[in-house]
Amino acid sequence: MHCVQKITDNIYWVGGNDRRLERFENMFPIPDGVCYNSYLILDEKTCLMDTVDTAISRLFIENITHVLNGRDLDYLVINHMEPDHCANIEELVRRYPNIKIVGNKKTFQFIGQFYDFDYCNNSHEVKDCEMLNLGRHNLKFMAMPMIHWPEVMFTYEETEKILFSADAFGTFGAMAGNIFADETDFEHHYLGESRRYYSNIVGKYGNQVQGALKKLSSYDIRMICPLHGPIWRENAEYFIGKYDKWSRYEPEKNGVVLVYASMYGNTENIINVIANKLAQKGVKDMRMYDISKTHPSYIIADIWKYSHVVFGSVTYNNGLYYGMESLLNEIKALNLQNRKVGLVGNGTWSPQAIKVMKEILCTMKNMEVVGTPFEMTSSMKDNEEEIVDRFVEDFYSSIS
Ligand SMILES: Cc1cc2nc3c(=O)[nH]c(=O)nc-3n(C[C@H](O)[C@H](O)[C@H](O)COP(=O)(O)O)c2cc1C
Ligand SMILES: [Fe+2]
Ligand SMILES: [Fe+2]
Repeated sequence: MHCVQKITDNIYWVGGNDRRLERFENMFPIPDGVCYNSYLILDEKTCLMDTVDTAISRLFIENITHVLNGRDLDYLVINHMEPDHCANIEELVRRYPNIKIVGNKKTFQFIGQFYDFDYCNNSHEVKDCEMLNLGRHNLKFMAMPMIHWPEVMFTYEETEKILFSADAFGTFGAMAGNIFADETDFEHHYLGESRRYYSNIVGKYGNQVQGALKKLSSYDIRMICPLHGPIWRENAEYFIGKYDKWSRYEPEKNGVVLVYASMYGNTENIINVIANKLAQKGVKDMRMYDISKTHPSYIIADIWKYSHVVFGSVTYNNGLYYGMESLLNEIKALNLQNRKVGLVGNGTWSPQAIKVMKEILCTMKNMEVVGTPFEMTSSMKDNEEEIVDRFVEDFYSSIS
């Protein structure tokens, strides 16, 4: 049975949800599932904006068959050639042999790399800013390389002023019938997952996102249709504002994330002591994570949100505990910047944690180490409380 919704008089949402997939990209846990959006425009010509993941191919075909109601499919625009969106191209070419696939040079290169069917008679290559008229609707293709793949395009529909934004403005989380952000309690249900999606998947490309936001600022946008998650038809400025902040690597909130790597609990204990002391000074809404317990994508999302972070790690074979090392290397790879950092290390015979953490942090932009990092040898004794107090005092004064 088809499952579609009209988003305007002649444009339909024909996507679907997957609540069974354990991990997105086989990496990110998605406890609330994920949604793959696709949109079908009915005009003198019919045009589909992207396809969906193989997980929901059957529903997808039912959806477009229903909306087309016997009409041929004239165009398929590929805004993004990642398999979670382009898995059904071959199937569509088989069902609609006259279809024209609209993409840029890189799009077709990637189609050839991923698939084995002959698309030569079905390709319609476009360049940046090229237009395609469907009748009443007019599509403008905008190259948006590296948000977050090189072939990515946004498509702007001029008549109804709709932006089809590929993976930008997307979020993890399946949709429960309410496909418009204004029909949901977005801040409560989706914002955290949007931030986790953005920071982990698009976060590295802040400059490109800034460039895109600049380009888009001259367009009148009444609706944003992303490839994952709710559609924005009201108050899109709110979400664009989040993207602006995230892509500038600016924290949304003054606050502290504490992350520790600890085997026997001594480092964990000191991180708790620090959080307790900060709380007693009035710091609110702190977040604490055990690196071995929580998937790093959640920790990264919170580091993206807050202004301060404390890393506490044991020394492990002359280096860092590898969960902590990979977290630090990942936030570096994602280009995270502009945070204030506190450091706590531990070791029994030759502590190295502070040194290695500093080595990674000093290659990042504007990561300021505040307070005096302190390294304990196995555990801290009550008579060393002064060291912790001094650290807490310095760290606290940097939280305005
Ligand atoms: C496999 C392994 C490797 C370790 N390597 C080092 C090391 O190279 N240098 C060091 O000083 N301590 C090393 N340690 C000891 C721990 O860093 C140390 O016991 C620490 O105090 C434990 O803190 P925790 O109670 O927070 O787990 C190692 C421990 C393990 C289990
Ligand atoms: Fe993608
Ligand atoms: Fe995607």
